[in-house]
Amino acid sequence: MQMDVRPWLERWQQNNIGWHEPGGNRNLREHWHALRAGRRVLVPLCGKSEDICWLLAQDHDVTGVEVSALAIEIFFREQSIDYLVSEEQGLTRYRATELPLSIYCCDYFDFHEQGFDALYDRAALVALPPEIRERYASHTAGLLKADAALLVITLAYDQARVQGPPFSVLPEEVTAYWPGIELVASCNDIRNCSDKFHEAGVTEAIESVWCRPA
Ligand SMILES: C[S@@+](CC[C@H](N)C(=O)[O-])C[C@H]1O[C@@H](n2cnc3c(N)ncnc32)[C@H](O)[C@@H]1O
Repeated sequence: MQMDVRPWLERWQQNNIGWHEPGGNRNLREHWHALRAGRRVLVPLCGKSEDICWLLAQDHDVTGVEVSALAIEIFFREQSIDYLVSEEQGLTRYRATELPLSIYCCDYFDFHEQGFDALYDRAALVALPPEIRERYASHTAGLLKADAALLVITLAYDQARVQGPPFSVLPEEVTAYWPGIELVASCNDIRNCSDKFHEAGVTEAIESVWCRPA
């Protein structure tokens, strides 16, 4: 099934990016080191996440994949990182000139580089509707080494009351996609959810942090 990415491109054009966390994600900082992740980290659906800079500062090689060229250009501009753009195997690659960072501008399902040591998924799995998520998980597994470290952050809430994205992803779905992954933290994050959650009367949205060490 092909994904319609136009709504995402429009959101970037309208600067309607309520998911973006200025300063990055606290869970990454708290749980990453316990994973003993190898050097090469994959960040699917990366947006303009400042977590990329944090991972670079931990000495990782970072590869992001993002469908919006605008998002990628904003990221490099805001972070004052110089870059070059090239076309490689049909994909547009933005490569930092002085840091081990590349962001590919494409539909994630067209990205096929393999051998990553670790996955950082914040607001990627939960950005996808149910009919795409299984494909996302198996595509991602094919890009990672078998013993790759994983850090995946999910949100679970009453999907009958409010539509995604972000979509509700239940624990059994996460453990089915990622054998050996374990819940390391969870909390009710409703206060950080967008207006549509509050307008629908949702009072509980459980943010969960899932990890699998290398
Ligand atoms: C909810 S945002 C999360 C961004 C980032 N992970 C963060 O934590 O800030 C999802 C991002 O995925 C991008 N995206 C959506 N579908 C995509 C696809 N099929 N391929 C690549 N990027 C996609 C969107 O443009 C958007 O920037």
